[in-house]
Amino acid sequence: TKVMQETSKIDFIYFREHEIKTWYTAPYPKEYNRNRLLYVCEYCLKYMNSRYVYSRHNLKCSMYHPPGNEIYRNGNLSMWEVDGRENVIYCQNLCLLAKLFLNSKTLYYDVEPFIFYVLTEREDSSDGTKFHFVGYFSKEKLTSTDYNLSCILTLPIYQRKGYGHLLVDFSYLLSRREFKWGTPEKPLSDLGLLSYRNFWKIKICEVLISLKDEINEVHAARKIFHCSIEDICNLTGMIPTDVIFGLEQLQALYHYEKEGEKRYAIMIKGWDRIENVYNRWKSKGCAYLCPEKLVWKPMI
Ligand code: COA
Ligand code: NA
Repeated sequence: TKVMQETSKIDFIYFREHEIKTWYTAPYPKEYNRNRLLYVCEYCLKYMNSRYVYSRHNLKCSMYHPPGNEIYRNGNLSMWEVDGRENVIYCQNLCLLAKLFLNSKTLYYDVEPFIFYVLTEREDSSDGTKFHFVGYFSKEKLTSTDYNLSCILTLPIYQRKGYGHLLVDFSYLLSRREFKWGTPEKPLSDLGLLSYRNFWKIKICEVLISLKDEINEVHAARKIFHCSIEDICNLTGMIPTDVIFGLEQLQALYHYEKEGEKRYAIMIKGWDRIENVYNRWKSKGCAYLCPEKLVWKPMI
């Protein structure tokens, strides 16, 4: 694959009437790596060499949404669960597409051990309902680690609108339904890290604001608000390290020692910082996750 990557000429993909600049190379079969522009069907993710083949395909392709089950719908946004074993070609195409925007090594062909969660935007038009591909994340089915997300992508045409945040939020919702604490697979890409740092911070803001009255009461009595990190893990589905990271970013973590043991407490020096961070994010008006709309049970 090394040779193929070095000789790749794909600079753009044609996707939903957009020409999208690619960021990295992907190991498409070499007959597809010769063109500057690769055509990709936004529904089945099949890749094609020419506009002619692509328009012929559009007439034949009967897919208007990802394969698998629609397990979540809120407004015009849906989440689809696609099993790598049942939809091998679709998932391989998805991984190749993602690789165009990922620098790291990632899987392309061995998709069976993974489940893919695909986010779509619904469009009701005169010629029927269409579910436009926005992004996805993958998750390993059987794993001894606490990883709840392996790879994540928002297509560049939909980036910086909070969809990455929504996908990550969804990954933690699944973990909570499994009664687990999760964390993304490492190493994260630069953009992955920026997104997660922001997510952890916002999530912890949300939790703290929901506990505001309780915390203020305890502080008013000049006491320390003893909250266990585990409580926040259970509320969020996040592992302790990530919870602590979020608290630290908000300067809300207080370390102390008791009986020679390291302990943590929540100590709010001022609500302004927390509320400002949270309100700034909320004011973007991004789609938010609605947990009660998830219709899903863990596989095991
Ligand atoms: N520059 C700086 N901060 C960024 C950023 C960027 N390009 N992209 C995301 N962030 C941070 C910001 O804090 C952002 O909030 P803001 O827009 O208010 O500043 C926050 O993350 C939320 O971003 P969001 O809109 O939810 O993310 P997204 O939909 O653009 O998707 C990724 C984020 C990582 C999924 C997307 O960049 C992507 O697909 N990258 C390529 C694939 C990849 O690297 N995946 C991760 C490793 S597997
Ligand atoms: Na990520």
